[in-house]
This record gives sequence, structure tokens and C-alpha cells, in this order.
Amino acid sequence: MKSQAQTISLTRTIGLTIAVLSISALSLSACAQPTAATVAPVVDTKNTLLKDAYQGYFPIGAAVAANEYGLDSFTSYGDGIMSNFNSIVAENCMKPGVIQPTEGSFAWTYADNLVAYAVAHGMTVRGHVLVWHSQTPEWMFSQTGTQEERKTATRAKMKSHIDAVVGRYKNNVYCWDVVNEAISDSDSGSIYRTVSGWFTSYGDASFIQDAFDFANAAAPTAKLFYNDYSVVNSAKRARIVKMINDLNLKSHGLDGVGMQAHWSLSWPSIQDIQTTIDTFHDMGLDVQITELDIDCYSNSASMNAIPYSAVADALTARYAAIFKCLRDNKDKISAVTLWGVADDHTWLDHMIGGSYKNDVTRKNYPLLFDANKQKKAAYLSVRDF
Ligand code: G3I
Repeated sequence: MKSQAQTISLTRTIGLTIAVLSISALSLSACAQPTAATVAPVVDTKNTLLKDAYQGYFPIGAAVAANEYGLDSFTSYGDGIMSNFNSIVAENCMKPGVIQPTEGSFAWTYADNLVAYAVAHGMTVRGHVLVWHSQTPEWMFSQTGTQEERKTATRAKMKSHIDAVVGRYKNNVYCWDVVNEAISDSDSGSIYRTVSGWFTSYGDASFIQDAFDFANAAAPTAKLFYNDYSVVNSAKRARIVKMINDLNLKSHGLDGVGMQAHWSLSWPSIQDIQTTIDTFHDMGLDVQITELDIDCYSNSASMNAIPYSAVADALTARYAAIFKCLRDNKDKISAVTLWGVADDHTWLDHMIGGSYKNDVTRKNYPLLFDANKQKKAAYLSVRDF
């Protein structure tokens, strides 16, 4: 089973028309950082905020760190930058492995700080994530006993986790990514990601129904989402549609689909984005863009870091085209969230050769503020439409 990162880069490679002629050997040390070629910070003569520009369209959110890995977005970026957003989501601190690392022991502080910041600044909070095959501690899964015993034990632990987390934030978190990335990336075999502690503990996909039932009971007014990547891939999108219909998820509380939107300078096409939005809208579902960022490397495996100056114009045009499409669909999209605030902190610095590598970095430029926390031309292209 490919990892998520491998699948995103594979999907892109398939989508790309460029033949990769050479791939340099992967170095395990930090790769050479780009040359000093820089792009002067943009001059912003308007100084209006993203959230105000999109007042008539949808909330604009950002993924933030609340010190769970040593980075605190609120102090790092300050209210000036953060005031561009009217919604935030936890990049990591509400994930099962971070918020309940051992059974019954909760690390509430990070998530509490995030919620407190949102309340103090009039922001909404997206909840990410309740049930996911990744960043979930092994104790949540039951690997011994009969399948029925394993299912019963895991179900009880899932319910307890969701009751505790969703219950604690039910007055502050308006929507949840209830289940994340449960669909297979393979066009053959099961439509579900079967290499998953949830799937193996249950022995089937009914854990997905339980997750939505438990979240719906814990916070009846919250909007509940199924969230995934490469949803624009027609075969994977069809598998998600099949899951929603086969499991009758709308009757279990599903309100919408989250398109993660980890896209690149050339993938996916605007048409594929439009088709995907229409597919789920036509099913009577809400759609959100939940993790938008733009990978600036067409060759995912290359260790040759490129300077921002080499991609600045393409990135600006790409963001302009994507946000025009999103604005055109403002009646079908209820929120757009960027997966980060500025280029100084992006998971994409570590996604190289199709997998996440903590100990290797290759500078990427996926967001609207640069690594010096300055507005990019892409920021202006999104705001000044
Ligand atoms: O910063 C610490 C470092 O000090 C420490 O030495 C190192 C040792 O493990 O950990 C570092 O923290 C890493 C953290 O990112 C830094 O932000 C964690 O290991 C690493 O697991 C964590 O990765 C997160 C990844 O999910 C895990 O799967 C990324 O931040 C986060 O952006 C990414 O987000 C996911 C969404 O939740 C779901 N959709 C895909 C998206 C991208 O993978």
C-alpha cells in the first residue's frame, strides 16, 4: 500500500507530461539549500486582509502549530499575519497520537491554547482529525482475540476518544474531519485502505459508520466531513462516492467531503477540480478545501533544491487560477483552508521522493507568505481579484 505522500507524487507524475530524465541520488544529509537568488518582497499598497476580500465567498483558514512540536504559530507569525484568517485548524495537536498518546492520558494544553486563540480572535476552528490510520497510537487498536472481540474492543476505544475530544470542544469546533484517508489509492482490490489499524481491528469498513455516529452524538450541531487527498483523481473519487453510498454515510451524519488539495504547479487541472466539486455537491454534500498548498517541485524525487525566484511567477498564476475556480463555486464550497501560514514551516520541505522524511529538507514554497513571513505575489493574486 503506497503512503499518502507516495500516492500524491505518483498521481502527479502520471498527470505530468514531463519525462524525468535523471534523478540524483537521494542524500540522507540535509540537501543543499537553494542559491541566494531571491525575490524582493511585494509592495502591498492596499493592505486589506484575505478574510475581508473573501467576505462574500467563504472563510479563509490556515493550519497552525500550537507548540506541540515546538513551533507556536501564534507567536511566530503574530496577530498581523494571523488576522488574514477567520478560521484555523490544528496541524497536529488534535490528532489521536498527540492528544491522547496513552489510553486515558490527554494532552489538552496545545488544543486548548489553539481554541483559546481562536475564541479571542473571533476565528472558527476546524477539528482535525478523529479517525485516521496515521498518527494514531497502537493502544487504540485491538490485535488479539476473535475478530468480533477485536472489533468490540476497538469500537469502545474509538467511542471513548471521540466522546472525550468532540465533547470537550463541542462549543468551539464547528466541523470535524471525522475520518481521514480511509480509501485505497489502488485501482484494484478493496476500495478501502485495508492496511490500517482501524480496518484490521474491525475486519471491515464499519468503523467509518461508527466514527460518524459517535461524532454526531457527541456534537449534534457540528458539521462532519470525510477528508482525503487526490480526491480529484477520477478513480479514487469514484471509490469515495461508492463508500458514501455503500455505507449510507449520510444517514450516519456525514455532511460533506474535505478535499485536502495538496496540489502542484501543474496538477490537477481546473476542470478536474470543478468536476470533483460538482460530484459531491450533486450528492447533496458540502465541500471544503481543507489542506491547500502548492508543491513547487515538478520532479518530486529530485534533491536539487530550486530558488523561489525560479517558480514565483508560476506559483502566482497557479494560485490565481485555483482561487478563481473556488470563487466561482462559492455556493458549493463552505470553507478554504491553507495547510500552513508561511513557507518557513511546511510539511512539504520534508516530502521528498514520495515520502515524508524528518531528517531531510528541500526548501519548498507552497504558501502565500514567504519564509521571511512576508506577503508573496501569490498572496496578492489571491486577494486582489
Ligand atoms: O519538529 C519535530 C522535531 O523537533 C523532532 O525532532 C521530530 C522527531 O520526530 O519530529 C518533528 O515533528 C514532526 C512534525 O510534523 C513537525 O511539524 C513530526 O515528527 C511529524 O510526524 C509531523 O508530521 C505531520 C504529518 O501530518 C504526519 O503525518 C505534519 O506536520 C503535518 O503537516 C501532516 O499533515 C497531514 C494531515 O494531518 C493529513 N493530510 C496530509 C497532511 C500532510 O501529510
